[in-house]
Amino acid sequence: MSVYKRSHMCGELRETDIGQDVVLNGWIQKRRNLGGLIFCDLRDKTGITQIVFNDKIPKELFDKADTLRSEYVVGVKGKVAERESKNPDLPTGDIEVLADDLIIYSTADTPPIYIKDDDNVDDNLRLKYRYLDLRKKKMQDNLTFRHDLAKLTRDYFSEQGFTEVETPVLIKSTPEGARDYLVPSRVNRGKFYALPQSPQMFKQLLMVGGTDRYMQIVKCFRDEDLRADRQPEFTQIDLEMSFVDVDDVIEIQEGYLKRVFKEMKGVDIDTPLPRMTYDEAMERYGSDKPDTRVGFELQDITDMVKDCGFKVFTDAIASGGSVRGICVTGAAEIYTRKKIDKLTEQVKSYGAKGMVWMKVTADGVSSSVNKFFTPEQLGEIAERMSASAGDLILIISDRNKVVFDSLGFLRRHIADEMGLLDDEQYNLLWVVDFPLFEYDEEAKEYHAMHHPFTSPKEGDEELLKTDPTRARANAYDIVLNGVELGGGSIRIHDRDMQEDMFRALDMSQDEIDEKFGFLVEAFKYGTPPHGGLAYGMDRLVMLLTGEKSIREVIAFPKNQNAQCMVSEAPGTVDEIQLDELGIEIKGE
Ligand code: AMO
Repeated sequence: MSVYKRSHMCGELRETDIGQDVVLNGWIQKRRNLGGLIFCDLRDKTGITQIVFNDKIPKELFDKADTLRSEYVVGVKGKVAERESKNPDLPTGDIEVLADDLIIYSTADTPPIYIKDDDNVDDNLRLKYRYLDLRKKKMQDNLTFRHDLAKLTRDYFSEQGFTEVETPVLIKSTPEGARDYLVPSRVNRGKFYALPQSPQMFKQLLMVGGTDRYMQIVKCFRDEDLRADRQPEFTQIDLEMSFVDVDDVIEIQEGYLKRVFKEMKGVDIDTPLPRMTYDEAMERYGSDKPDTRVGFELQDITDMVKDCGFKVFTDAIASGGSVRGICVTGAAEIYTRKKIDKLTEQVKSYGAKGMVWMKVTADGVSSSVNKFFTPEQLGEIAERMSASAGDLILIISDRNKVVFDSLGFLRRHIADEMGLLDDEQYNLLWVVDFPLFEYDEEAKEYHAMHHPFTSPKEGDEELLKTDPTRARANAYDIVLNGVELGGGSIRIHDRDMQEDMFRALDMSQDEIDEKFGFLVEAFKYGTPPHGGLAYGMDRLVMLLTGEKSIREVIAFPKNQNAQCMVSEAPGTVDEIQLDELGIEIKGE
């Protein structure tokens, strides 16, 4: 069977093409037979053109057109004509193609999902038939957008002297802190590779190797709980530079972001971008990735309630926690008791045991804790929160982490529910001065907040030896509308300081040798000062295309259970393969 050489794509023809002979290839979106006329919508990734088979064509051709069904793949030859009833919703709506030839390349069973951008089909079904889902224009547009961003990224960083270098995928464990995906080695029985959580150590080795400026668009793998902005395999735009300080890295990145927003969205970004310290971000927004499109900032009322009769507050304060709240302007009426109960349930997943609410009315403050406070006290709290009539105050008392996480969630969640988050507004900012260490509640030990190669901030080097938990890091995150878009740091390149760091993390020599031995060894032979950063490319594309999940911008993503619904990975393997690897599966 021959393939028609197409003259145009299905979304291209306009009024100026009227009278032209054209050839189109594509899928049948729908077919209607109105007696002497058959209308078909022919679709490809660029759009839809209406094709008409009328009674002037040979009967054989008309009958063939009558056999067309949704998703048949066909080629059509014909002449562009003006449409009688124009369709203003379609870019090609002024014209139609009067067909004089048709070739059916393949027929199709009735598809299990409709090929329509706004169908409400179950997510797992969409993922199972992803190749059908991908036929939707929106999905193809997202893939093209992603491609364009990748190209722009390579162009920009090339111009800035970066070289794209591929790093290995079968490696030893990386220090990013999530669980590894492991790959058993057949040749080295009993040993395992890890898939990289990031190319962190290799990009640092490239700096030792003299590459000077490295970039890579690279797949990373992390076995962690999945969310709308997390996938087990995702893509980083990974960067590392020699002979730089924080300002140098940030300047290059701001140039990049400026270009991304201008070329991809037509939006001018003002640089330098705002920088906010980690402490300020937590105090004001309860989050190290603050969404600054909306206010509802946190207020600390610990001092006002420390002697009150409400045990929930006083107990939290006594055990080192705090009492803080947010004031949601104009939300008192919108948030009924039922809706507030739902919010209370939701903050439980952040560890909160409960939530106190207050509603400010013209007659005073009504609240869930009326019996513990005098009207005057409630009034004072409302005043501290800058609340006026019609406002809703939500208060959490607990350990600081729980308070911040809960209120951080509430302010953004409520803003979203109230429709206050504008997708077209892009609030970019740097969060800087992260603590060098964070306490891991489960393991009951301190971990490097970024990774153990992150250097302490100038002036805090001594704290590494004396009071490590107070040391701040030379680390920075780039945040866009409440999403951590990327993060990085200036690395330690001094051997003594690296030793101090490992000691502060309570790591034994064996552990250091086992985990990072090769990097420590490499640092012995002349290491340039260096630093870098990695963006989550899926997240960047998600935010720029206005999608709510990174799954919408990945061709074949995993579902909530880390399964590929198309290929049904992960799958079982046969005994012979397991035997070769020396692996036995225990129990179920
Ligand atoms: P980090 O761990 O912060 O830093 O990762 C960098 C960025 O990658 C994105 N990201 C993810 N995106 C989707 N799914 C995931 N599971 C996922 N995990 C992370 C985020 C994040 O900001 N090596 C360091 C970078 C450096 O120091 O240069 C690193 O990987 O957008």
